[in-house]
Amino acid sequence: MNNIKACIFDLDGVIVDTAVYHYKAWKRLANELGFDFTEHDNEKLKGVSRMASLDLILQWGGLTKTDAEKQELADKKNAWYVDMINHMTPAEILPGAKEFVEACKSAGIKTALGSASKNAGTILEKVGIDHLFDVVIDGNQVSKPKPDPEVFLKGAEELNIPPANCVVFEDAIAGVEAAIAGGMKAIGIGSPDVLGEANLVVKGLNEMTIEKLKKI
Ligand code: BG6
Ligand code: MG
Repeated sequence: MNNIKACIFDLDGVIVDTAVYHYKAWKRLANELGFDFTEHDNEKLKGVSRMASLDLILQWGGLTKTDAEKQELADKKNAWYVDMINHMTPAEILPGAKEFVEACKSAGIKTALGSASKNAGTILEKVGIDHLFDVVIDGNQVSKPKPDPEVFLKGAEELNIPPANCVVFEDAIAGVEAAIAGGMKAIGIGSPDVLGEANLVVKGLNEMTIEKLKKI
């Protein structure tokens, strides 16, 4: 039995599958710039901030842009992305996600969201689960991207729970690394081949129970 008092959840790929919308918008931008990238390349963008994603994509296309041009391109991608997430509904919550966050609350475990996305608030509201989190930390409140632990440490601090009593749920390697760097436990959402550093890896929150959480 451990002493877990808080669960901190990443958003994209853990609570909702917005990766497909990020992919569509970045692909549209790359296509406008005259090149393409695959869904396999897209894996490298998971958990990575908006500007860092753009830098990677421009590198794949062999393009160099000024800071002003990059800002314009990132704004354009974000406008397309926002158009898509504005149509999201509760049906897009990943299987078991809502139920597990609710189970944590019923068990007296505090809940926080720790996301790199500046659009996290809009997404939570669209899928109707903003009330499930005691604290929300998103890309608007952090300056250092994952694998820096800033986003999760802020969440723990606002919850008033020591990092050692927190578990982070993450689908990105950078996110698992951020949790460990912050002195927290990590549960990977996805494949053990990719997220092997985590204390436990499950395919989705539908495989999680409070019992499993107490045993990691
Ligand atoms: C992360 C996603 O949660 O948020 C990344 O995994 C994304 O793909 C990042 O780039 C930033 O999101 P946004 O909404 O601020 O552009
Ligand atoms: Mg993620």
